Amino acid sequence: MTFERITSLNRPLVNQFLERHWFTTTMIVRGEEIDMTKVDGFYLAEDGAILALLTYTVYDGVLEIISLDSLRENQGIGTALVEAAVREAGKQGCSKVVLITTNDNVDAMRFYQKRGFDMARLFRNALDRSRQLKPEIPLIGEHGIALRHEIEFERVLDTGKRN
Ligand SMILES: CC(C)(COP(=O)(O)OP(=O)(O)OC[C@H]1O[C@@H](n2cnc3c(N)ncnc32)[C@H](O)[C@@H]1OP(=O)(O)O)[C@@H](O)C(=O)NCCC(=O)NCCS
Repeated sequence: MTFERITSLNRPLVNQFLERHWFTTTMIVRGEEIDMTKVDGFYLAEDGAILALLTYTVYDGVLEIISLDSLRENQGIGTALVEAAVREAGKQGCSKVVLITTNDNVDAMRFYQKRGFDMARLFRNALDRSRQLKPEIPLIGEHGIALRHEIEFERVLDTGKRN
């Protein structure tokens, strides 16, 4: 599977995909706005259309996955994108890969836990703060679950360092 990296040339296509799937290019994570039109990422395309996209940012030795969307599910594309992000983290000398998901997204919780990610932190009632910045965030999320908290998952990388 060969992924394209987001560049200034393909950025309009990426932004269009994000708007279509997230209805916005601004995301609130841990009470802070993230401008999705500026983040890095990889995608899989077919006939000029994006089939799956992973976006991320890197800070303080951490690669954080900001979004992951796969339109052609159950073919290993999401897993391959996560592994590409893990490799990128290694290349950039990061010690871990993290991501935030909301408490209603049980599919993402299953997906990431089966791929080496563990629950690391709970941001209880984080969505109260998110709604102050973005009132359109619904009260009820996936599967009819009240949308309230953020959960941070992490996968610690083997950096080859020995203590
Ligand atoms: C979560 C998500 C990214 C997974 O993407 P995907 O491309 O379906 O991921 P994969 O195909 O790698 O894995 C999905 C399932 O298919 C199975 N699978 C993987 N390769 C397969 C193959 N070749 N044939 C059949 N099944 C396969 C996997 O075992 C996995 O099941 P599991 O989670 O029970 O182990 C996708 O469902 C999605 O976009 N969801 C909506 C947005 C979202 O919630 N994003 C995550 C939060 S940021």
